[in-house]
Amino acid sequence: MQTKVIRITDSITDGTSLKEAADILRAGGLVVFPTETVYGLGGNGLSQAAAEKIYEAKGRPSNNPLIIHIHHPAEADKYAFAGDLYNRLAAAFMPGPLTVILPKRDCVPYATTGGLDTVAVRCPDHPVAHALLKVCDFPVAAPSANLSGSPSPTCADHVIADLSGRVDMIIDGGECEIGLESTIVKIDRDEKGEYLTLLRPGAITYDALTCVCERVVIAGAVLEQLKEGERPLSPGMMYKHYAPKIPLVLLDGDPQDVLAFLQKEQAGKSCAILCYDEETTALKPENLFLVGTRDDLATQAHTLFAYLREADKTNAKIIYAHLPKKDGLGLALYNRLIRAAAHTIKKI
Ligand code: TXA
Ligand code: MG
Repeated sequence: MQTKVIRITDSITDGTSLKEAADILRAGGLVVFPTETVYGLGGNGLSQAAAEKIYEAKGRPSNNPLIIHIHHPAEADKYAFAGDLYNRLAAAFMPGPLTVILPKRDCVPYATTGGLDTVAVRCPDHPVAHALLKVCDFPVAAPSANLSGSPSPTCADHVIADLSGRVDMIIDGGECEIGLESTIVKIDRDEKGEYLTLLRPGAITYDALTCVCERVVIAGAVLEQLKEGERPLSPGMMYKHYAPKIPLVLLDGDPQDVLAFLQKEQAGKSCAILCYDEETTALKPENLFLVGTRDDLATQAHTLFAYLREADKTNAKIIYAHLPKKDGLGLALYNRLIRAAAHTIKKI
């Protein structure tokens, strides 16, 4: 398949290209588009055939469901049963990096939801995604636009490396601002009323969610490894997550001790290091990836997936990264890193 790559910087003046993209989607084709989190591999969310094409292009098992993307939060009610708590979340965080799991309506095929009676809904905050969704008269189902087993793509080059020849069009909208996938919550109900289960942490933090809903439960698999035979709350938690080919080890300890350890390691073997900006003067420059300053979690999130891809292309024997704290955006960084490192943490 020939993949057309177009660059869109201004969604207003580039209306013709967006119409072409919408026509491809309407005809059952696949279009990769940028969002504020990561790039999405889009197809018509109401079409079983399009969902099947997405799973095939990505190399993903078809029981791992897709998120449907909408241009306005109120659209959710067409495809799902959205109640009071959804409306409050939408008012606080949409458009934005939040995905909400709701009971699905019949119009959404089981192919899109991986056979589940629920559907994941998200309204992205990105001018190109918004303009594309607006000209589509259907929701756009889109997983992250990486091949299964690669990190989520945060720029068009990552997408081209993974999906060229597998999709009809790639819209290059530059770097994704956030760089980690959206926060996913499920709305549940018990005798005490509605509450949220956090299935995947992201830029909408646990603390922000608790401002809208008193009860937010963090699903076990966010921080811990699933136990043998345990069924996860989200199918995505079950599959082997992205892990670099070169072993990744997370370092936990006093900052001075960790730095001394890294210096010693660099003297003895070839290692790639995702380090804080303030550590660079103490380390040799070879295979060093500057993720931002220690407290700048937004830059660390923005750079993580790109640097994991790059570090994995070096000739290093091992990749080291810092174990993040679990506060704020740190919880999302922690979640992605412990999975990429297969929970390998070295205490210093
Ligand atoms: O930021 C994002 O969310 C990006 C952009 C493109 O919007 N999308 C994304 O999609 O990360 P994906 O498919 O790579 O991750 C979605 C996760 C999967 O782990 C899937 O198992 C879970 O959401 N999921 C989808 N529908 C679900 C449902 N009905 N119940 C539970 N988990 C669901
Ligand atoms: Mg993904």
